[in-house]
Amino acid sequence: MAKYEVMHASEISEGSRQIVTVAGIEIGIFNVKGKFYAYRNLCPHEGGSACKGALTGHLAQGPETNWDLIWDREDEILYCPSHATDFDILTGESIARKLMRLQSYPVKVEDGKIKITLSELDS
Ligand code: FES
Repeated sequence: MAKYEVMHASEISEGSRQIVTVAGIEIGIFNVKGKFYAYRNLCPHEGGSACKGALTGHLAQGPETNWDLIWDREDEILYCPSHATDFDILTGESIARKLMRLQSYPVKVEDGKIKITLSELDS
């Protein structure tokens, strides 16, 4: 395991992301409502740059919405720019393609700095 300091937390405003390269791996760091998430910039579908996609919400409809069509999860759904697979940025799981998920990395903020942990398997 190796911990990398990648940037100051203030460099990523809420609802945005930065792409960094750590140990030769492109990683997207997302700030969702003040909490940080880190994912490899590699889509499990066909290898697209998923972390560069639109970060938005989605339409939901079901028993939980009383079957009304509502827009929710603003800034929490990432759409891969290659074929629009949708990923829940809080978990890395695809919503429509349940077997797919982005590779995630532990991320912490210490002394205002974002730190990511990579394992020896990540290189
Ligand atoms: S490569 Fe990401 S959806 Fe196809």
